[in-house]
Amino acid sequence: FFSNELYQPLKGKQFLITAGPTQEKIDPVRYITNHSSGKMGYQIAEAAAGLGAEVTLISGPTQLATPKGVTRINVDSAQDMYEAVMEHFASTDVVVKTAAVADYRPKVVHAEKMKKKPGDAVIELERTTDILATLGELKKHQTLVGFAAETEKVEEYAKGKLERKNLDLIVANNITEAGAGFKGDTNKVTIYKKNGETIELPIMTKRDVAEQLLAEIINYEQGNSR
Ligand code: CTP
Ligand code: CA
Repeated sequence: FFSNELYQPLKGKQFLITAGPTQEKIDPVRYITNHSSGKMGYQIAEAAAGLGAEVTLISGPTQLATPKGVTRINVDSAQDMYEAVMEHFASTDVVVKTAAVADYRPKVVHAEKMKKKPGDAVIELERTTDILATLGELKKHQTLVGFAAETEKVEEYAKGKLERKNLDLIVANNITEAGAGFKGDTNKVTIYKKNGETIELPIMTKRDVAEQLLAEIINYEQGNSR
């Protein structure tokens, strides 16, 4: 009689999930972006909603449909994503930042299409705000979950980000490994927790990674019962 749909361990929890790439405008026809498909974040959003959470999904441009039961807010740039996240942070219990946020944006956004000129073209860049690091400074009751896509020294870099951004969990993947990374439907991740615990997961679908991660978040919150 009790189907899975009645298993709602996240009932009453507010989740804020960011997903996809950002786009940083150069001029009206060009922008800087990355290979993020958004699939990992959308799977987490759908799985969290299925477990009873109230989910707000702040999404960069993707080709994906909005998951069932999820409130979606579309953004383009890192700055837009930052502002949308800040608006929702106070009322959030768990933040999962799967988005591949641009680290740099053009210093000047040209109002007109840039024209070719003799000589080298240079686009001057400036840093975007680190959204997750800002949340790490502001955090009170919230559980913060980051993602780290690396091509080398995965453990060292991921643990560095966990520490530096004041996170509770970080999900690391080596995007050069088969079955991991941006575009596909599978991923191979290791979860590092603030309490020193490490969970190395085998290659599995992004849906299964989402469910494993949510189980670890539930676990972590119970253990920390803050
Ligand atoms: N992140 C963010 N805002 C940024 C950059 C990154 O919120 N401006 C978040 C990402 O969403 C992710 C985590 O920080 O959850 C790690 O992102 P990553 O790009 O791996 O780390 P960086 O700190 O940007 O370091 P680097 O790119 O130099 O490895
Ligand atoms: Ca980065």
